[in-house]
Amino acid sequence: MSKLRIGLAGLGRLGQRYAENLARAVPRAELVAVCSPVESERAWARDTLAIPTIHDTFEDMLADPGIDAVVLVTPTSLHASQIEQALDAGKHVFCEKPLSLELEDCRRAAAHAAKASKRAMVGFVRRFDESYRNAFMHIEAGGIGRPFLVYSQTTDLADPTGAFLKFAPTSGGIFLDCSVHDVDLARWLLGRPKAKKVYATGTVAMYPPLEAIKDVDNGIAIVEFEGGQMAMFYASRTQAHGHDTQTDVTGTGGKVSVGRNPRADRVEIADANGVRNSVLPSFYERFAPAFVTQARHFVDAILDDTPFDLTMDDAVEATRIAVALRESQQSGQPVLLA
Ligand code: NAI
Repeated sequence: MSKLRIGLAGLGRLGQRYAENLARAVPRAELVAVCSPVESERAWARDTLAIPTIHDTFEDMLADPGIDAVVLVTPTSLHASQIEQALDAGKHVFCEKPLSLELEDCRRAAAHAAKASKRAMVGFVRRFDESYRNAFMHIEAGGIGRPFLVYSQTTDLADPTGAFLKFAPTSGGIFLDCSVHDVDLARWLLGRPKAKKVYATGTVAMYPPLEAIKDVDNGIAIVEFEGGQMAMFYASRTQAHGHDTQTDVTGTGGKVSVGRNPRADRVEIADANGVRNSVLPSFYERFAPAFVTQARHFVDAILDDTPFDLTMDDAVEATRIAVALRESQQSGQPVLLA
């Protein structure tokens, strides 16, 4: 197989970026089909992508024998069952994070993948970001001694229109939607430990409709891991300055930080008001190159039969921790994880 023939499901906010990347920036992939139940999204695909086949159902796309692998950028509630359907149809699968909002679905999909003849990977894009990779390699080389503490935050620019409120009820809440990235990062940078205890709390600072669904727009969390390592997370939907994702890892011999100044570019302005730079507006500007690297990693791993950097167990553990954080935030109690 010289190129991996891909069918992409989901052409929403992120799916369209995936389509453009797979069509133009992943040389060993060929985007041969897309599917979406929404006519305006299929029209976008017809107008934008030079691809032969556009389906209106996922099932029709799976029936196409000319597809080797499926990429899922569909709503999270569909991920686990679509992974299983794709594997049963004899396709390899890449799925956007998170694997599911429910732990049982995660476990079922992971068990299904373990028995399947084709392979499945859940993406956590930050692992493919150059700065996070460099930090990981520095830690692996012993650069900070034994790492024992991660602080990591995912904080989004406030949206005065509150448009995200439409998606909030199905997002799983701030910890499953946003902090799940930090959870996966923390495990990766600390040597993939399992969590034993979590505590989370939060507040509604700007968007009162979140109260009705027991969600918050600013959340903080503490995780204790089985090996004694610790993590602290902050997630926010209300930042005044921009998208501000950053991480510190502290070890016995030093500390490494990623993204401390979420600068949009290398311009720095100095005047009578001080020194300043502009800030990234959203996650996509921050991680655009990493999405391409992640897609290339998936394609290379399938074509060359090499391991994925992320296992299905990693995806299950990230959801297990994020679900416990949501439970703790809603109950006000710490959650012990067996
Ligand atoms: P969206 O709601 O904008 O797009 C979802 C897409 O799925 C739409 O095109 C919709 O028509 C399509 N769809 C719905 N049912 C379908 C079905 N049965 N078969 C095929 N397509 C179907 O959502 P968005 O923001 O693009 O998110 C998609 C996924 O990407 C989510 O799981 C989300 O967690 C993840 N995501 C990850 C980010 C990251 O930083 N890695 C950032 C944003 C989203």
